[in-house]
Amino acid sequence: MIRFLTSGESHGKALMAILEGIPAGLELQEEDINLELGRRQVGYGRGQRMQIEKDRAQIMSGVRHGLTIAAPLGLLIENRDWENWQNKKVPPVTAPRPGHADLAGTLKYAFSDIRDVLERASARETAARVAIGAVCRKLLREFNINIYSRTVQIGKIMDSSPWRLAPKEWAKIENSPVRCLDKDEENRMIKVIDQARASGDTVGGIVEIAAANIPVGLGSYIQWDTKLDGRLAQALMSIQAIKAVEIGLGIKVAGLPGSQVHDEISLVKGRGLAHTTNRAGGIEGGMSNGEIIVLRASMKPIATLMKPLHSIDLKTGKTAKASVERSDVCAVPAAGVIAENVVAFELARAMQEKFGGDSLREMKRNYHGYTEQISKY
Ligand SMILES: Cc1cc2nc3c(=O)[nH]c(=O)nc-3n(C[C@H](O)[C@H](O)[C@H](O)COP(=O)(O)O)c2cc1C
Repeated sequence: MIRFLTSGESHGKALMAILEGIPAGLELQEEDINLELGRRQVGYGRGQRMQIEKDRAQIMSGVRHGLTIAAPLGLLIENRDWENWQNKKVPPVTAPRPGHADLAGTLKYAFSDIRDVLERASARETAARVAIGAVCRKLLREFNINIYSRTVQIGKIMDSSPWRLAPKEWAKIENSPVRCLDKDEENRMIKVIDQARASGDTVGGIVEIAAANIPVGLGSYIQWDTKLDGRLAQALMSIQAIKAVEIGLGIKVAGLPGSQVHDEISLVKGRGLAHTTNRAGGIEGGMSNGEIIVLRASMKPIATLMKPLHSIDLKTGKTAKASVERSDVCAVPAAGVIAENVVAFELARAMQEKFGGDSLREMKRNYHGYTEQISKY
């Protein structure tokens, strides 16, 4: 079973992750992880913190001579900002920020300084999850599985252009400061972020994630917690500030007749049994159905406002402005990269469950045996 734990605070010494269950024999280098960490850090709308951090992972265990040895992988990402905080006199935070873990966390753990909550609740933790996702992507690529994402909305600006996951499109998305495919919408999105910054406000948006070449039958309808749609939704919803997850047509299904929601089955040349459309987003009955998995995640606007909302100072009991922390104005592009990587973890976990194998060689043998078996239907 593939599983992980992370630890580390936003301004602590480092983030750490232990990832277990990756089969032996997978080629893995720190650069594979650093590539993903770098992608997470860019994007229009980020704050100063991302200029300080140049995230790099160290592989502390689980790899010998560039290959995994089935032992738990220990990953370490140092926080460069930690040095700056060592000599700093940091006053306690006492006015909880609406939209954050601040109030509930302080009451729950009986803290007197809200910083004890925000240090761990912060999305800095997602760097560790991206590092884990990077390893999982490496495993998935052995099976020709690739995961993509793009921004489809920032504020009220939407990019509804279709995408074909073609390399040319991917290059455009990766080079866009907001990770948007359409150039005109990109400019509009940038303007929205600038306007929010100028008025001391923040903006959210929607990212779309696609996973291609997924074999039929990952996940299962057998129990509630084995369903792939539920598992992917949990993975995405657990990213800080994600408030809704959609699969395929998503919330639109509620208003459409069945004939416009379900995907007809036919014999497609070169593929065998397949669907003529992909409105289900690649998942039916809690299992992958062989089509591209298409997910969307909606991110709320960043909760730390430079023009802070009203709160109560927990020390004085009086009305106060919420505390202001150094902060992003919009982190939707970064959320897309994080989303790809949490999806990678969940898909790698489902692949490992389905095909097992202590070594990559064994896992591949099982995979090929299965794909041959289903091709005979
Ligand atoms: C990539 C990323 C960056 C974020 N940056 C900030 C930030 O700079 N300031 C902030 O207040 N919230 C930021 N957030 C959102 C908060 O971490 C999140 O809203 C908060 O922890 C409360 O969790 P919840 O929104 O899931 O309830 C960020 C989220 C993500 C995914």
